Amino acid sequence: MAERLLEIENLTTGFMTEKGFVKATDNISLTIEKGKTLCLVGESGSGKSVTSLSIMRLIDYAGGSILDGKIVFRGDDLAAKDQEEMRKIRGNKIAMIFQDPMSALNPVFSVGDQIAESLRLHQNKSESEAWKEAVNLLRMVGIPAPEIRAKQYPHELSGGMCQRVVIAVALACNPELLIADEPTTALDVTVQAQILDLLQKLKQELGMSILLITHDMGVAAEMADRIAVMYAGAIVEEGTVEEIFANPSHPYTVGLLQSIPGFEGTRGKELYTIKGTIPGLGNLPGGCRFHPRCPHVMDKCKTQEPLDFKVGNDHSAVCWLYEDKAPVVLGRNGGETK
Ligand SMILES: Nc1ncnc2c1ncn2[C@@H]1O[C@H](COP(=O)(O)OP(=O)(O)OP(=O)(O)O)[C@@H](O)[C@H]1O
Ligand SMILES: [Mg+2]
Repeated sequence: MAERLLEIENLTTGFMTEKGFVKATDNISLTIEKGKTLCLVGESGSGKSVTSLSIMRLIDYAGGSILDGKIVFRGDDLAAKDQEEMRKIRGNKIAMIFQDPMSALNPVFSVGDQIAESLRLHQNKSESEAWKEAVNLLRMVGIPAPEIRAKQYPHELSGGMCQRVVIAVALACNPELLIADEPTTALDVTVQAQILDLLQKLKQELGMSILLITHDMGVAAEMADRIAVMYAGAIVEEGTVEEIFANPSHPYTVGLLQSIPGFEGTRGKELYTIKGTIPGLGNLPGGCRFHPRCPHVMDKCKTQEPLDFKVGNDHSAVCWLYEDKAPVVLGRNGGETK
């Protein structure tokens, strides 16, 4: 296995509500390797954003907290850090971009100033050096005539260009990990493809790791080295992109794939929709959390939480259908070995 940059080990996070503490991520474990892209997929409300906010420890500001587990980044546990230490890591070693580029940019500063400000803060550059570097970054993210664009304000740029600027701000501090939470859903389809191409190019050129959050399996197919499928706060399947698409194992993953237009097996057929809806926090069914929606539900699924079974090379699924396979064993550090 390649070098691990980030290892989330048995992370449980949640929110205090009138019903008490409710879990938004339940004992999740994930690994992101150096220079690779992990796509976290799952429908709305499955806990994808909570996972990314937890890594950045921004969950603390969203009214949530980490109950248990580790977030090991380059050997250091982020879950145990205080906010002062996290401030040095955020936007420095780890950068994050969100769905809506407009809300990430400040309307009263030129885009060049916003990138230059980040360079001055994180890299102690002089004003003129920072401006030169900001223009270079705009060129790098594919903005034409960057010297002119740098002087413009966010409202003078299209949505796609603004997202490129947001990516340039993120790159200004040379992050080792870029977390992108649905970075293209607010953009139209052609612009979406351009931004995804840009992320691929930057990953290759800069050797960054990317955690890409998407509800779109088509995007995951193009971008991911590995895919983790999340459902109602838990990772239900994880593996290489090749394995997940060749041999989708958890019934939830199969349902997600069958609902992609144009995916092999769905062409010319009516698209499948997974029946029912995702349960709200604090409202999880007993046994397997997916059982009320599962086309393969067995009695056991209603009462016993499934284990994580090895369903292929470097591929596991949390589902009783694979009971005859070996369970994934916990490694030395509590991490999984597959
Ligand atoms: N600040 C909060 N307080 C209480 N509950 C929250 C808070 N933020 C998120 N949640 C709940 O946590 C669960 C997971 O939310 P999250 O935003 O991580 O989902 P998601 O997978 O990112 O969905 P989407 O695809 O819609 O972005 C949801 O049930 C959500 O309602
Ligand atoms: Mg989200």
